[in-house]
Amino acid sequence: MNNLEKLLTIDHISKAYGAVQALKSVSFDLFRGEIVALVGDNGAGKSTLVKILSGLIQPTSGNLIFKGRPVHFRTPADALAYGIETVYQHLALVEQLDVADNVYLGRETYRWGAVGRWLGVLDRRHMREQTATALSQLHIKIPAPTLPVSSMSGGQRQAVAIGRAVTWGRELLILDEPTAALGVEETEQVLQMIEKLRDQQGISMLIISHNMQDVYRIADRIVVLRQGRHVATINKPDTSPQEIVAYITGAKEAQVAPV
Ligand SMILES: Nc1ncnc2c1ncn2[C@@H]1O[C@H](COP(=O)(O)OP(=O)(O)OP(=O)(O)O)[C@@H](O)[C@H]1O
Ligand SMILES: [Mg+2]
Repeated sequence: MNNLEKLLTIDHISKAYGAVQALKSVSFDLFRGEIVALVGDNGAGKSTLVKILSGLIQPTSGNLIFKGRPVHFRTPADALAYGIETVYQHLALVEQLDVADNVYLGRETYRWGAVGRWLGVLDRRHMREQTATALSQLHIKIPAPTLPVSSMSGGQRQAVAIGRAVTWGRELLILDEPTAALGVEETEQVLQMIEKLRDQQGISMLIISHNMQDVYRIADRIVVLRQGRHVATINKPDTSPQEIVAYITGAKEAQVAPV
């Protein structure tokens, strides 16, 4: 992966919640166009790292370097401004709204510029056209952007949430357990969509998953956290699901020396 462009460097990131050391000097790189799976047992620090990368919390120490420059994400808006979008496990879609409204939630466009905004007129037609175009460019199959989310399957909802994230965040997509709530067929659809985003759009992704089969299928590299420490980074061709589990449980010694 060394010939690829470094997108984000996580540099000695630590996070303490009072006496709990949730992350202990974690360092690794994310390259452009790759899928990295972030794995680890319950309490390993995965969500804590994702929250730091999406600006929800700040690290106790350490640095983030984005495209070669140090960045400080003080709020989620800061991370979004760099094109880093996170899809949380609980998708935060609004049931009653249709697909287009959900894609544009909080970023609605208004007709007639400032006057329209003042009048509060949402440019629905424009939003729907843009949403349909964006989702079809992403090969996201949604029956119609006018369908309310409440009428959709779990896989379609996940697709809408990922589609929304990719519509706004073109640099790094962070997915928290994207297939956890899905059946076999829906999981397959979402995995195919994730692979297409990487292969056809070159989008970098950091994916948290407990499902070793999914991880082994889609990840280019696997980063293992154990009790807040980064214990291994493994290239997919060099490993097996069994070895990943051995690092997660501690049956296999840490590959990364403590710093
Ligand atoms: N807000 C908080 N206050 C105090 N401790 C916290 C807080 N959030 C997380 N922790 C602790 O930090 C550690 C790491 O938690 P984190 O949620 O990052 O783990 P995780 O890898 O996402 O686990 P899971 O797979 O269960 O989601 C745990 O010991 C957890 O109890
Ligand atoms: Mg978590």
